[in-house]
Amino acid sequence: METKVIIIDIAEILRDKKQSLSGARMIAEGLRAAATLLKQGEVVAFPTETVYGLGANALDPVACKKIFSIKGRPSDNPLIVHLASIEEVKKIVLEWPEKAQICAEKFWPGPLTLVLPKAKIVPPLVSGGLDTVAVRIPSNMVALALIRSAGCPIAAPSANISGKPSPTEGKHVWQDFQGKIPLLIDAGPCPVGLESTVLDLSGPIPVLLRPGGVTFEQLSAVLGRVEVDSVENTKGQQFVQPKSPGMKYRHYAPHGEIAIISSLSQEIEENVKKELRKKKTGQKIAFLCMEETVRTLSNRIISEIDLLFILGSREMLEAAASRLFEGLRLCDEQKVEVILVEEMPEKGIGLAFMNRLKKAAGKRTH
Ligand code: TXA
Ligand code: MG
Repeated sequence: METKVIIIDIAEILRDKKQSLSGARMIAEGLRAAATLLKQGEVVAFPTETVYGLGANALDPVACKKIFSIKGRPSDNPLIVHLASIEEVKKIVLEWPEKAQICAEKFWPGPLTLVLPKAKIVPPLVSGGLDTVAVRIPSNMVALALIRSAGCPIAAPSANISGKPSPTEGKHVWQDFQGKIPLLIDAGPCPVGLESTVLDLSGPIPVLLRPGGVTFEQLSAVLGRVEVDSVENTKGQQFVQPKSPGMKYRHYAPHGEIAIISSLSQEIEENVKKELRKKKTGQKIAFLCMEETVRTLSNRIISEIDLLFILGSREMLEAAASRLFEGLRLCDEQKVEVILVEEMPEKGIGLAFMNRLKKAAGKRTH
């Protein structure tokens, strides 16, 4: 199969007002092609503000089955259904509790997924056999336009081969699925760069199943009490069904071994030195760290690191967190065998960053 790539330069379209007509035409053509494929039961990769998604018509079980086989995803790991309006969401859930309305008004469109009791029309395959369904309204304008023009809800996991770091750029999707899907819409890098927060609202108390783009603090501020999933807490798993086969494997993992480096300035150099001593001769080593950290490293240490990847500044943690998957994927491209990553404080977006990092490292979260 040949994978067609449609490039949509949102920034350029927004910047250049004079071009907006041809820009709009370009978007319309790309979206029409993608929507037609979705209606025909095909799988299409598209951008969201979090990561790229591998989408299919959520109400078509045959189409959704293709997602699982293309990704190599265990069939009991449910998919997130993407919609363009609250009215559409209400058609695929059984209940719409007040807390869902509060979250929707505050955080949609955006990087928050709500888990709610599912309506009958949602195929069991999409919900992984559970009686709940995960729903979200993304904020990326291409994603929204695609959902509208396809005229159906779109089920989409992250567009990566199961177990690999999620794709935050079109080229990441290309690397994983070139020749396996008919179409990829490339609209540049994803600004959030980490997946959506998954919040379970099917019980009396909201439960955070996966930290993500909307922070625990933001949710607590509007909802009051929010529990953190105990499976997540004790075993570092992202998934509620403890028997999920997917849980046996590392998630978000590059080929190289990851070591997490302290962010305390007095410990960084020592930590890095220790890892350098452990590494075998000839092994390539990378350090993904903050701009402020690079300034504290001695020249000797810097000279021993093959790939120094600056995530960003401590002053702008969201931007730095958004580059984690890009950094991990770059390590794979450059065949790095030892990957050192500087930790972040586990609050705000740092909670999602550390959750992905620990899973990528194959470590348990506490
Ligand atoms: O940001 C995102 O959420 C991206 C973009 C494409 O929207 N999608 C994404 O999908 O990350 P995926 O499949 O990689 O992760 C979906 C997560 C999984 O941890 C899955 O177990 C959980 O959501 N999930 C889905 N349906 C669920 C349900 N009914 N109950 C509990 N967890 C559910
Ligand atoms: Mg994923």
